[in-house]
Amino acid sequence: MKLGSFVGCMTGTSVDALDLALIDVSHPNGPESSFNEEVTVTRAHTVPLPESLRDALLACGQPDRSSVDLLGRCDRLLGEFIGESITRWLHAIDVEPTSVTAIGSHGQTVRHRPPGSVDQPFTLQIGDPNCIAELTGIDTIADFRRRDMAADGQGAPLAPAFHRVLFGKLDGHLCILNIGGISNISPFGDHHGGFDVGPGNCLMDEWYAAHHTDDGAERYDASGAWAASGNVHDALLASLLKDPYLALNPPKSTGREYFNRAWLNPHLEQTAGEIAKQDVQATLAEFTAITIADGIRKSLPDVSHVPVCGGGRLNTHLLQRLVSALHARGHDHCVVKPTEHWGIDGDAVEAAAFAWLAYRRHYLLPGNMTEATGAKGPRVLGAIYPG
Ligand SMILES: Nc1ncnc2c1ncn2[C@@H]1O[C@H](COP(=O)(O)OP(=O)(O)O)[C@@H](O)[C@H]1O
Ligand SMILES: [Mg+2]
Repeated sequence: MKLGSFVGCMTGTSVDALDLALIDVSHPNGPESSFNEEVTVTRAHTVPLPESLRDALLACGQPDRSSVDLLGRCDRLLGEFIGESITRWLHAIDVEPTSVTAIGSHGQTVRHRPPGSVDQPFTLQIGDPNCIAELTGIDTIADFRRRDMAADGQGAPLAPAFHRVLFGKLDGHLCILNIGGISNISPFGDHHGGFDVGPGNCLMDEWYAAHHTDDGAERYDASGAWAASGNVHDALLASLLKDPYLALNPPKSTGREYFNRAWLNPHLEQTAGEIAKQDVQATLAEFTAITIADGIRKSLPDVSHVPVCGGGRLNTHLLQRLVSALHARGHDHCVVKPTEHWGIDGDAVEAAAFAWLAYRRHYLLPGNMTEATGAKGPRVLGAIYPG
């Protein structure tokens, strides 16, 4: 039975682009709470964020640069940008807005302070859903994370339940890996949960923007070529690997509030002598790869396949270092490949997750996987803004 078509939209911690996905959902028994619907990602599209909006959102995400006025402005600007982008995209691909059941909008996280990091945990995503509903005429569902946090959860990660829907029928001991600004994994095994392992692209992106002098076309270290040109600095790597977040047991989640330049600086200062810029980049790549490999190994000791989504899957150096780190931990035969190897567009997975969460909300089904978020129980996530 077809249960509808849903659009998902996502701007992640990298603040690079708006990812859009259109999905079809069906289930032979109609809507039911177990995570085993049939989901097909029918179309996907990425719209780069205009420079001015990106700069404003980045400022909004930094505690010392944000204000209520900036927050309100960004909320509205991003809501309008999402609404216009969806309208333009649906027109371009010849999809009638009336054929879309609902939009699921993640919005931009401007602050994520999960339980364990502060006394009063909160998480805040912006991109006014009223504007999206007004501009598209489509029911818009947003604010997915806060109900989970109200139930004592981390509010994150929410993608593991969807990863299960999308990849759960494949053979093997799978661990889905999303390398966005932050990296999160979804192991399918005895412990099937999911958590943020630590940084993804965020540290490398920040170092690259500050120190790479060539006028490249991209804002990031394309394919990890710059990192590959440097040497890993052992003392710096050892210092980074002592970070206490890495040793925490899941459920856990993190963000750019934690893994950022201010986090890196003391490690650099403690390490004797000047380190070449490309060697820092090489060390950050190695640190990121080892952190991910350790997270995978601990949560799924018999892992056989790691489908990788998110922009970091295109960083060939990082993926090579990850394979090498997994091999060094005894996983010689583990297959690590972009999700395209399994026929799924790796830029669309996280956006599709929010389309699926919109489907769950539409039918009043829980959207959180409590093993991943640590919430007291399953909860229906998100609020509806009628089109
Ligand atoms: N060709 C590439 N080579 C290396 N890194 C890339 C490439 N393409 C994208 N990236 C990385 O992916 C990031 C965006 O990934 P994305 O999954 O959109 O993250 P987020 O969910 O945090 O927005 C970029 O900031 C960049 O670091
Ligand atoms: Mg992105």
